[in-house]
Amino acid sequence: MGTQSRKTNPTRPPSFYLARCIPLLLFLFVFAFLFFFNIDTFVYHTKSIALNTFTEQSRLLMNAEGGTLHRDFDITWGDGRGKIHNNGGILTLSLDQNSGSGFRSRNEYLFGKIEIQIKLIAGNSAGTVTTYYLSSEGENHDEIDFEFLGNSSGDPYTLHTNVYCQGKGNREQQFYLWFDPTLDFHTYSINWNPKRILFYVDGTPIREFKNLGSNGIPFPKNQPMRVYSSLWNADDWATRGGLVKTDWTKAPFTASYRNYKAEACVMSGGLSSCGTKFSNLNLTENSWVTEKLNSTGLERLKWVQKNHM
Ligand SMILES: *[C@@H]1O[C@H](CO)[C@@H](O)[C@H](O)[C@H]1NC(C)=O
Ligand SMILES: *[C@@H]1O[C@H](CO)[C@@H](O)[C@H](O)[C@H]1NC(C)=O
Ligand SMILES: *[C@@H]1O[C@H](CO)[C@@H](O)[C@H](O)[C@H]1NC(C)=O
Repeated sequence: MGTQSRKTNPTRPPSFYLARCIPLLLFLFVFAFLFFFNIDTFVYHTKSIALNTFTEQSRLLMNAEGGTLHRDFDITWGDGRGKIHNNGGILTLSLDQNSGSGFRSRNEYLFGKIEIQIKLIAGNSAGTVTTYYLSSEGENHDEIDFEFLGNSSGDPYTLHTNVYCQGKGNREQQFYLWFDPTLDFHTYSINWNPKRILFYVDGTPIREFKNLGSNGIPFPKNQPMRVYSSLWNADDWATRGGLVKTDWTKAPFTASYRNYKAEACVMSGGLSSCGTKFSNLNLTENSWVTEKLNSTGLERLKWVQKNHM
């Protein structure tokens, strides 16, 4: 009826029709507002859902990767500053003004090839020392060392190696690495077999310590050793002989570890998992027990000793 009358009443002023339009305009306005607002929230939600899914996936991925570090090692000191993450996939040691931290392998080995990946403290690591070594216990102990001496930002770390036999060291060799060891994980290995000790960095031999026992030079061969690592403050000597001190405003300092591998003879109750004279191992294969440097290895070793010592 009403429409009928409107149509049939041409005397109404245009303002009347305009007024009639206002609800429609309002509706359109609200609709447009809601539409854009919702698009925005929609985009926002989609983004955050995507982001959450991504973080969740990478978390799951890292967890799924996992590892064995929680079974291989015990954190032995540092009051919570050493931690194992990602189901044993990553281990971190940290150092602050109150303490450093360290860990130790559960197993004791008598010969073996041990390998771990380390990412060293980035930025200003002056005054800090990160160690990674094999050691037996007691006064006349044997020890095979990797020690990473920190430095000011931009200055190179020093990699210090040493071999102790029956408590006596003094067999240091120092290296500068050919890469920045703080940007990523790199592999540091020690092959300790009856004939020689080989130190490797990313598969490149940097040092060979031969068993020259027949010449009366002591060689570690009787005492089982564990793997140890520690991060501590040594600013009385570590960097430029102690001239550069630790900058505690940069603490905590953190080093990370992953991918531990030990092809080794595990000692337990005085018996070796490898048997007597490696009788349990198949030495016809490319074995760590008989590993020595071939011509390529010797070339690499020479290159390191010429350019990076
Ligand atoms: C730190 O960098 C300086 C300058 O390059 C270098 O002389 C020194 O050997 C480096 N390492 C340490 C541990 O001081
Ligand atoms: C030892 O390794 C070699 C080479 O891989 C293989 O041919 C041989 O069968 C192995 N022997 C034993 C006893 O496993
Ligand atoms: C030398 O040894 C390395 C590993 O130790 C191996 O990858 C390489 O193939 C060997 N090279 C030769 C020429 O035998």
